[in-house]
Amino acid sequence: MKISVIGVGYLGAVHAASMAELGHEVIGLDVDLRRLERLSAGESPFHEPGFPEILRRGLATGRLRFTADIDELADADVHFLGLGTPQRADGFGADLTALDAAVGSLAAVLPARAGVSTLVVGKSTVPTGTARRLAGRLEQIDGVHLLWNPEFLREGFAVRDTLEPDRIVYGVRDPEVAGPEIAMLDAVYAQILDGPDRPDRPEGGVPRLVMGYEAAELVKVSANAFLATKISFINAMAELCEATGADVTDISRALGMDDRIGNKFLRAGVGFGGGCLPKDIRAFIASAEDLGAGQALGFLREVDAINQRRRVRVVDLAREMLGTLRGRRITVLGAAFKPDSDDVRDSPALEVVSRLMAAGAHVTVTDPEALENARRRVEGLAAVQDTAEALQDAELVLLLTEWREYRDLDPIAAAQLVSTPRIIDGRTVLTPSEWRAAGWEFQALGRPDAPTTLPADDRSVPVADALIDAAAQA
Ligand SMILES: NC(=O)c1ccc[n+]([C@@H]2O[C@H](COP(=O)([O-])OP(=O)(O)OC[C@H]3O[C@@H](n4cnc5c(N)ncnc54)[C@H](O)[C@@H]3O)[C@@H](O)[C@H]2O)c1
Repeated sequence: MKISVIGVGYLGAVHAASMAELGHEVIGLDVDLRRLERLSAGESPFHEPGFPEILRRGLATGRLRFTADIDELADADVHFLGLGTPQRADGFGADLTALDAAVGSLAAVLPARAGVSTLVVGKSTVPTGTARRLAGRLEQIDGVHLLWNPEFLREGFAVRDTLEPDRIVYGVRDPEVAGPEIAMLDAVYAQILDGPDRPDRPEGGVPRLVMGYEAAELVKVSANAFLATKISFINAMAELCEATGADVTDISRALGMDDRIGNKFLRAGVGFGGGCLPKDIRAFIASAEDLGAGQALGFLREVDAINQRRRVRVVDLAREMLGTLRGRRITVLGAAFKPDSDDVRDSPALEVVSRLMAAGAHVTVTDPEALENARRRVEGLAAVQDTAEALQDAELVLLLTEWREYRDLDPIAAAQLVSTPRIIDGRTVLTPSEWRAAGWEFQALGRPDAPTTLPADDRSVPVADALIDAAAQA
C-alpha cells in the first residue's frame, strides 16, 4: 500500500521506517529540512536502537523516501499524522498548532476519490475532542476517513514497540459502521496483527481494539497518567522513607510481589521526564478542566508536584553533603531523560544540572548519547564524553540517568578518580553496601542510612502519625 507519514520526529520516523519494513511504499514529510536531509542520507537524527538499520534498509530497497513537498503525498492511500503536540507556552494545554497546520496542508492536496477510500490516521497524543474536530474538516472530502490510532511506543524500544505492540487501538467516528476503514487499516498492519508467538497470548496475534474517537484519545493519556501516578506514588513513599529512616527499595520489592500491583514503574528516583509523560499529564488536566471534569484529575496535579519535588530534593541532598554548592566540583552521570535515548526534553538530570549550576557549583556532565542535545539546552554546559575523565577530581557524583555503564561502575576504580568519594544514587540502582565498603559516602533518594528529621512543615507531626495519615489516604 502507498503510505505517507506527516511529521517524522521520534514517532513518525520510526513509524515510516517500520511501515517500509512491512513492505509498504512510504513517503515521510517534515518541515525540518535538516532532519529530512539526515534521514534521506540514512543518518538517524536521534539515538534509537535498531532504527538506523530499518531506516537504511528502507532507503536501500527504494520503499522509503522523504520529502518536504506535500504535493508528493497526494496519491497515498493512508496518511499517518506524527506531529508533535508539546505543552503550550501559556499554560498546561497541548499546543496543536503543528497538527492543525499539517491537516490543513493535507486537506488542500487530498483528491476526492469517489468509490476509493483514503485514510488519515492520527498517531499523535491529543486532547479529547481533537479527532472529531479534525474529522469534521477532513471528511468533507469525498472518500476520506479519519481514524485515531494512538501510539504507545517507548523511546529506547521504539522499533520493537512499533512492530510488536502489546495492543493496537483504533478510534473511529462510529464503530458500528466503520467496517471498511477498519479493514483497510488492518491490511496496513496485517503482519503486526498476526504477531509473533508469545507465551502470554496462547490465542496468537496482537489484540486490536476498536472504539470511539474519544475513548481512543483517552486510552493514550490515561495510560500515561497511570504510569506517571505509579512513579510518583513510589516517590511519595521515598519522601516518607526519608522522614522515617525506612529504605524505599524494601517497599518497592514487597509491593511488587503483589501481583495486583506488579513490580514495574516502582523504582524510586528523580522521577519521570521526556517529551511525553510530563506534558501529557498536564494536557490531560487542562482538557479535563475544559470539559468541566477537572476534579476527576485533581490528583494528577499532585503527581506532577511530587515529580518536581524529587528534582529539588536531589539538589538539597547535594547541598547537605557538601555544606555549600558554590564552587564545588560535581559530576553528573546522565543527561538523557532515560537510558538508551538521547532525548533531553524535560530531562530530570538536566534540570538538576541547571539548578546546581544556578547555585554556583562547577558541574561536569557525561552521557553516552545525549551530550549534543544537552549542550543545546543548557548554556555553558561542561560536557565530557568519557566517564572516567568526567569523574576526575569530582567532590560529589550524582547518578541521574541509569545507563548500564553507570549501573556497572566499579566503586573501587571510581574512587581512584574522584577527589572525594561521595555519591548520590538518584535512580536507586546501586548497591549501597558495595559503595560504602569502597570508601564512598553514599546517599540515595528514599534510602537514608539513618533516620533523618522530618521536612520543616511536618516537624510537629510524630513520624508514626505521619505514616498512619498517609496510609489512611491511600
Ligand atoms: N516520542 C515518543 O516516545 C512518543 C510516544 C508515543 C506518542 N508520542 C506522541 O507522538 C507525537 C509526536 O511526538 P515526537 O516525540 O515524535 O515529536 P517530535 O517533535 O520528535 O516530532 C514532530 C515532528 O513534526 C514535524 N512538524 C512540525 N510541524 C510540521 C508540519 N506542519 N508538517 C510536517 N511536519 C511537521 C517536526 O519538524 C518534527 O520533526 C506527540 O503527540 C507525542 O506525544 C510520542
